[in-house]
Amino acid sequence: MQQIAHKKDIPSELTVKIEKLSNLGYGIARLDGYVFFVENACPGDIAEIRVTKKNKNYANGVITKILEPSPYRCEPFCPMQKVCGACQLQFIDYDFQIKQKKEIVIDAMRGINTKIKDVIPSPKIKEYRRKIQYPVSETKDSKRILAGYYKTNSHEIVNIKYCPIQPHYVDEIIDFIRNAAKEYNISGYNEKKHSGDLRHIVVRSSEYSDKNLVILVINSVKVLGKVKILANAIYENFENVSGVGINLNPLKTNLIMGEKTEIIAGESYIEEKLCDKIFKVGAETFFQVNPSSADNIFEYVKKYISENFENPLILDAYAGITAFGICLSDIAKKVVSVEENKASVDLASKIIKENGIKNVELHNMDAGKFFEKELNTKGRNFDITILDPPRKGCSQESLDYALKLTKNKIIYVSCNPSTLARDLKYLINKGCSVNYIQPFDMFPHTYHIENVAIININ
Ligand SMILES: C[S@@+](CC[C@H](N)C(=O)[O-])C[C@H]1O[C@@H](n2cnc3c(N)ncnc32)[C@H](O)[C@@H]1O
Repeated sequence: MQQIAHKKDIPSELTVKIEKLSNLGYGIARLDGYVFFVENACPGDIAEIRVTKKNKNYANGVITKILEPSPYRCEPFCPMQKVCGACQLQFIDYDFQIKQKKEIVIDAMRGINTKIKDVIPSPKIKEYRRKIQYPVSETKDSKRILAGYYKTNSHEIVNIKYCPIQPHYVDEIIDFIRNAAKEYNISGYNEKKHSGDLRHIVVRSSEYSDKNLVILVINSVKVLGKVKILANAIYENFENVSGVGINLNPLKTNLIMGEKTEIIAGESYIEEKLCDKIFKVGAETFFQVNPSSADNIFEYVKKYISENFENPLILDAYAGITAFGICLSDIAKKVVSVEENKASVDLASKIIKENGIKNVELHNMDAGKFFEKELNTKGRNFDITILDPPRKGCSQESLDYALKLTKNKIIYVSCNPSTLARDLKYLINKGCSVNYIQPFDMFPHTYHIENVAIININ
């Protein structure tokens, strides 16, 4: 293999051996201190690569020829895997994927004194995705509607007719929308010009009931009449569509949904089952994309708490529809939940009533503000605080408040190893220790990995 002494010496083409995966799913190879991030590469591959970008300490590359394939390569089960950006790792054997994901977590947690357990695999590795969000556009000349995931590192839509990681009937619903939209003269969105009618198709699909909630995201109220006809047609044509709504998002933004969703036909939610309780999931409410893997996480946390605490007082922060709080209500003296999204809190309130739960207290507020208010008013001392923030993690202020409010353990649930590592380091500096981290594979064939960190307040 070639040797590289300086950045200027990096050739445009070279031979490398792929060592492991990066946190974004690229194959990592090293030569003389330079790191190469290689697309669609599997640890163990020996391959010729073409360098696509040179930076100070690293370069990006693509494989031009595999000289010796890794023994962990396999045939992707989706014919679109090479073009579609949704499943980066489908050409890697699943057992090896989860071993690699553990390495990704170990790398992210470097410098943190803790044990990282083996990844708990997803119970399903196909048809697991239950939240589908396809951007929509149209072809230039024939104005055919395109809907699917983006190509890797681009906003070019791959028109996906069959996606094996989601239930097959979702493909049928989406194909119906493609054809009917054209028939009703509804155009696809043009992101550059911020023009066109239909921006996104969102489907929330229940693993528990097989029912589906379909949301059509439109660019302007002007098309409301036509899109209402389409919404009713979807509802009438599919028995397993239990509701169809229209969401208005007139802004030039990467956010998928606008603020308001109007349900045109049927119900405003689907039902899902976790820890033997029935939950309601709405158009705008957070719910884990892989319900059976999520159930593993909720049961795991419940078992950990029931084995270590008796009748604890629990704070469930960044609660969504209070999935943790409601699952834990059986083993808690009381659960106090805080969530900023009103639609989620409204649904949580319904779920609590329907499940006959009496010991869950809901707060619709920013978590940091709630922590501060709680300290200044009731100042309850929680045995356990569950933190399950979005990918950006928690603010230092929120972590400080959470520490003051918690007597014994923080259970930090995270979908982003790097912000989890940052927040754990902050808590360790404040005197905490991290008992262990349990990773769960919620997103087979992608580089994403969910972690549960058990934190001792010393
Ligand atoms: C990763 S989700 C977790 C939801 C829930 N624990 C579950 O597993 O279903 C994060 C949640 O935090 C909420 N959120 C984001 N920022 C927040 C904030 N500053 N205060 C309160 N909730 C927030 C989001 O609306 C979302 O429901």
